Amino acid sequence: MNKREDKKIKNFYEDWNVETLPKYVKILMKMEEKLLTNIITNSDDFKTIYKRKNTVILDCGCGFGSFYNLTKNLDTIYFDFSYNLLKKFKNIHNLETNKICGDVSNLPFKTGSFDLVLCINVLEHIKDYKNAINEIKRVLKNNGTAIFVVVNSESFINEDIFNDFTIYHKPLCLKDFDIEGFYLKDYKTFYFIPPILKILPTSILEKILNIFYKGLDGKLSRIFKRKGQFLYVILKKK
Ligand SMILES: C[S@@+](CC[C@H](N)C(=O)[O-])C[C@H]1O[C@@H](n2cnc3c(N)ncnc32)[C@H](O)[C@@H]1O
Repeated sequence: MNKREDKKIKNFYEDWNVETLPKYVKILMKMEEKLLTNIITNSDDFKTIYKRKNTVILDCGCGFGSFYNLTKNLDTIYFDFSYNLLKKFKNIHNLETNKICGDVSNLPFKTGSFDLVLCINVLEHIKDYKNAINEIKRVLKNNGTAIFVVVNSESFINEDIFNDFTIYHKPLCLKDFDIEGFYLKDYKTFYFIPPILKILPTSILEKILNIFYKGLDGKLSRIFKRKGQFLYVILKKK
């Protein structure tokens, strides 16, 4: 990616203000967050890491900390290249320390530093995403775990809220995670909410989303294994 494109992405996120988005957008974004939080907290890999003592975690591209609850009780570094989002992170979660500003393609950490790296909704913005995945592999300990979430290019749901970006944004699919030195531990796709539902009044939309949250999304995810809007991938370093 050239420097100008990089700067455009950085500027976009420096000015990113979710509060100004329409209510239905915020509701749908929250829904992705809730579904994913559920998937991660219920995954055996995460449960094992959570229980283990002295685990060190990197939330890579943490934004303002939508997934802070997952890691707040663990030794976690929050990393993002938007200085303003990290500042917002500090204000929302009252966290003074453990935040580092930088580029995922050139991580300022020693090889073999982390037990777990979370990288949620970030790789789509990185043209050389394989390089970024390899950087994440480098900073993981042997047998360490990486959890990636991306917009799924094989999805049959095409929600423009998660696709229409004015900056570089390219959905990925499972085969993009076939990286030497990593093996695939698990994957699933999620978020099967038909885009048409967003025309409904938000009170009704919320009720319908609750049905998806309470189990319908999980069911559809099992039936249409690779076809959800988001792809969740767990890789283990060999
Ligand atoms: C869609 S937001 C996701 C934030 C958070 N992970 C979440 O899911 O709420 C994408 C985030 O990736 C960060 N980002 C994009 N490209 C990056 C890069 N090359 N290095 C570090 N962070 C990057 C942005 O600043 C932004 O915070």
